[in-house]
Amino acid sequence: MELPFAESYKIKMVEPLRKSTREEREEWIKAARYNLFNLKSEQVFIDLLTDSGTGAMSDRQWSQMMLGDESYAGASSYYKLKEAIRKITGFEYFLPTHQGRAAENVLFSALVKEGDLVPGNAHFDTTKGHIEFRKATAIDCTIDEAYDTTLEHPFKGNVDLNKLEKVFKENPAEKIPFIVLTITCNTAGGQPVSMQNIKDVHALAKKYGIKVLFDSARFAENAYFIKIREEGYRDKSIKEIVREMFQYADMMTMSSKKDAIVNMGGFIGMRDEELFRKASTFNIMFEGFITYGGMSGRDMNALAQGLDEGTEFDYLETRIKQVAYLGQRLRDFDIPVQVPFGGHAIFVNARKFLPHVPKEEFQAQTLAVELYLESGVRGVEIGTLLADRDPVTRENRFPELELLRLTIPRRVYTNNHMEYIAVALKNVYERREKITNGLKIVSEAPIMRHFTVELEKMD
Ligand code: F0G
Repeated sequence: MELPFAESYKIKMVEPLRKSTREEREEWIKAARYNLFNLKSEQVFIDLLTDSGTGAMSDRQWSQMMLGDESYAGASSYYKLKEAIRKITGFEYFLPTHQGRAAENVLFSALVKEGDLVPGNAHFDTTKGHIEFRKATAIDCTIDEAYDTTLEHPFKGNVDLNKLEKVFKENPAEKIPFIVLTITCNTAGGQPVSMQNIKDVHALAKKYGIKVLFDSARFAENAYFIKIREEGYRDKSIKEIVREMFQYADMMTMSSKKDAIVNMGGFIGMRDEELFRKASTFNIMFEGFITYGGMSGRDMNALAQGLDEGTEFDYLETRIKQVAYLGQRLRDFDIPVQVPFGGHAIFVNARKFLPHVPKEEFQAQTLAVELYLESGVRGVEIGTLLADRDPVTRENRFPELELLRLTIPRRVYTNNHMEYIAVALKNVYERREKITNGLKIVSEAPIMRHFTVELEKMD
């Protein structure tokens, strides 16, 4: 008999979880104004809000914490991280930042100005936020296949080269500071970008004299999919694939809280010394001196170690297979989920799940609330609330996909937890006909409203 798949690690430290009753949850979610970000973590049984900063560090990472050098300038931890980044990504210049959006803030301060256009594959919301905040425009050039959740396509994060070339052709290069390629593409459902597409985007950008930026939060998961799905990569190591991917980027921003498996941290990688100098000034203003930029020495040490572990095949296989396990269980129950399954999360198609709730009443948020009430599982809306209002017309933007994201933290939960989540969602699915009323907004912020929005149940 073939041996079954098993995790590539064992558990050394545990954290207790508390179950709650439905009555308690009803009270808590009402007090939280139907915004799951407002719940206290002890009110949550299984937390699938995000895979960002929620992973479990390894014994090796924790041991690196003890070796951190907390010198203000020139700490050995900085040099350790610099060397790890150079080895894994190939970037010679780097700036540490406290997380991914801080890297965006620093880099975009140096590169993006009013009236600019920034094409990309479904920009993440903070990326888009930092572009729009500077009165520039993000242009989505993702392939159309990405928006059909039932279509099997190995690389739904790919850029449509025709859409991209149109932007390059119709606008002067001075107005396009870079194209941003998000690997994997979170907004499109944790979907990977193929090496071929990476190469093609790079070639097209170079033809028009445009820089290429990788938003690299989940670059290792992207490399795993290239290894598994793309011809010619099966025998290459993840580290080899990663090095090849980054050859096609001029710069990278990184939220280390994802694929580098640390609880806090980020960085910018660059090749150009002049850009590095320009960005350094903003780093000093916003983050901290260039050899720590918002991170303590111990955190830089853990990050250096995490970059190495996060690009190991056995770890990635365990990780991606757990996400797929949840996806398959939901599929077994006929629940409408996006296929192929993403790297970091399973995305439930809320429009199909709750067809009786009008789209103006936030279907995915309604589903997230129902799942929480059913089970104490906290997912996150990736839909109309997240899509925000149009900055000019102030009208709600209804995105192509209205999704509930079940985001799996790294090395944290077991497959029994996955089973619990699947059954919880099945129970909601069975009573979906009875869910006809959604939510309405009581108050919202002018930008990135989903974090703080307050909602009320429709009668
Ligand atoms: N880019 C991508 C693709 C992301 O997914 C995120 C964060 C960021 C940039 C920003 O990084 O949080 O470190 O400032 N995504 C988290 C999520 C928040 O839940 O998907 P950050």
